[in-house]
Amino acid sequence: MGWNSWNAHSCTVTEDDVRAAADALVETGLRDAGYEYVVVDDCWMADGTDGAGRLRADPDDFPSGMAALADYVHDRGLRFGLYSSAGSHTCQGYPASLGRERTHAEQFADWGVDYLKYDNCGDHRGRDAVDRYAAMGEALAAVDRPIVYSICEWGRSNPWEWGYNVGGHCWRVTDDAVATWHTGDDEFGLGIADIVDRVAALDIAAAQAPGGWNDPDMLQVGNGPDSAQSQHEPTDIERPLSTVENRTHFAFWCLLGAPLFVGTDLTGVSDDLLDLLTNEHLLAIDQDPLGLQGTPDRRDPTAEVWSKRLADGAAVALWNRGAEEREIRTHVDDTSVPTAGDRYTVRDCWSGEAWETHGTLSGTVEPRGTAVFRVSPVQ
Ligand code: GLA
Repeated sequence: MGWNSWNAHSCTVTEDDVRAAADALVETGLRDAGYEYVVVDDCWMADGTDGAGRLRADPDDFPSGMAALADYVHDRGLRFGLYSSAGSHTCQGYPASLGRERTHAEQFADWGVDYLKYDNCGDHRGRDAVDRYAAMGEALAAVDRPIVYSICEWGRSNPWEWGYNVGGHCWRVTDDAVATWHTGDDEFGLGIADIVDRVAALDIAAAQAPGGWNDPDMLQVGNGPDSAQSQHEPTDIERPLSTVENRTHFAFWCLLGAPLFVGTDLTGVSDDLLDLLTNEHLLAIDQDPLGLQGTPDRRDPTAEVWSKRLADGAAVALWNRGAEEREIRTHVDDTSVPTAGDRYTVRDCWSGEAWETHGTLSGTVEPRGTAVFRVSPVQ
């Protein structure tokens, strides 16, 4: 869990933005809720490497340098992350790490980096993904500092099959999530509903376990009309996320047990958004010790039921995909809830209210909304 600069600042990120994000994580209570890593995405580097092939921080945008920025982040009880790519260049055309993995991994460790997001852009020089990502995995394993290795290969070569074996702790399973509900256009990136559809179709829940996570991309929560964080005017296919869409987005990422990287500008963040990002019931579902990925139990064009087995029961989500408010109903027997006896406690993760059921679970759900219940057998 943490914050990443990309969705909020894209290629304009500066060290002041990163410091402000670190301060905001502390002041808003997000750090104490578990958001721990502060990751600088693409565009932190200067053009060209130094004589030894090392990366250099952009002298205008990061004048204090990365070691100083890491110190600033660490001093606030947070961890520090950087970005590079398994190619000649990053996606925005800056120098990257293919062929210089050892040098860069040592550099990252010297700077105090705790997390590396490793993208898939640039010239691959004829090397396949496993080879390229294994090279950085080995380099990170060889340095004297634990560094979380976040593989960002967009799911092109099934990283869920090899990511863990090359030292990865998580692997992106799709193209980029954009701050809208549905794009209908892969070239543009995927809307939130599109990502959930893609994850369902991939059917890769079995690849996930503690320490090796399927990553449906960083959160776009807050990058909508509530926050004015979008970097550009919405295009024809992009319409920022509404309040209800933000909630469904966050609920699904928790149900998937996904890495949670807030991607919105936290300076001046609203209380409503903070309430969502710190919802203790949803965070407990995301962080459940079994570390499983939620899976669909029922999908139809208007209503879906998803569930995720938890250490003491399961989370069940009822997602209204239609245009009208509707009641969605299921039964524990048709979900991942471990069935035992005939009494279950149910907690509504939005209201916090709890009740008992003999097995039926139902909720009245607004269009695009999601009811989320935590369900456990009564002992
Ligand atoms: C790719 C990644 C994104 C982001 C950008 C930066 O698109 O998938 O998450 O890191 O590059 O350029």
